[in-house]
Amino acid sequence: MSPDTKKTFQLDGKEIPFREGQTVFDAAMAAGVYIPHLCHNPDFEPHSSCRLCTVIVNGRPFASCTQPAVAGQDVRSDTPELNEMRRALTDMLLVEGNHYCPACEKSGNCRLQATAYALGLQDSHFPQFFPRRDVDASHPDIILDRDRCILCGLCLRISRSVDKKSVFAMTGRGITTTIVVDSPSGLLADSKVSREDEAVRHCPVGALMMKGEAYMVPIGQRRYDVSPISEDSVREFHAREEAHNG
Ligand code: SF4
Ligand code: FES
Repeated sequence: MSPDTKKTFQLDGKEIPFREGQTVFDAAMAAGVYIPHLCHNPDFEPHSSCRLCTVIVNGRPFASCTQPAVAGQDVRSDTPELNEMRRALTDMLLVEGNHYCPACEKSGNCRLQATAYALGLQDSHFPQFFPRRDVDASHPDIILDRDRCILCGLCLRISRSVDKKSVFAMTGRGITTTIVVDSPSGLLADSKVSREDEAVRHCPVGALMMKGEAYMVPIGQRRYDVSPISEDSVREFHAREEAHNG
């Protein structure tokens, strides 16, 4: 193969080109194929915790956000079984927390809500947990509403690797797992977090939000109100790819 020949793999019967080092997820999205995802943000290291992006590679399941693309492999993503699994995972996240979308400032910008719509999740198939979770509004600029946290771990990773502060951590097991804050009182106000931190800007849901920035854009005109997440995220990846290729 000449060095200029693009390497490719098959995704649902479509030829997907990729660069050395790209994941299945990144190559698919850059090629215009949406793979549902929650915990992955392409600007940061993938973590593969939500499993929503699971695909079948040569007959075996893998998280596409961490699975390296390999020439010639056969990948399935848009299958009835995988989409049913994604619906069930999303449904479980919705019933495990307290998500009142019509009253949430993140509505229209929320990846959980938008993904549920993209998967055609119309109603819940599990009993609602109604867990009791603490809201931390102690900080002058930042609010942590654990009701809406989907435990994607993004804030932990960004606070540690980008902000170099390690403000957030997870504690507990199963349904009692929760986000905790590194401060003597356990409150955001006593931690090193600040409004400049990247960690507080990339929560995919409305769990970490800035005070004083609510309702700047009316509901109905927000990111996923304007275009579905399947189109929006593919467009974003395409732009990233173009920037990379110069
Ligand atoms: Fe993810 Fe947001 Fe929860 Fe942090 S607060 S784990 S970013 S959902
Ligand atoms: Fe890949 Fe969450 S997006 S595991």
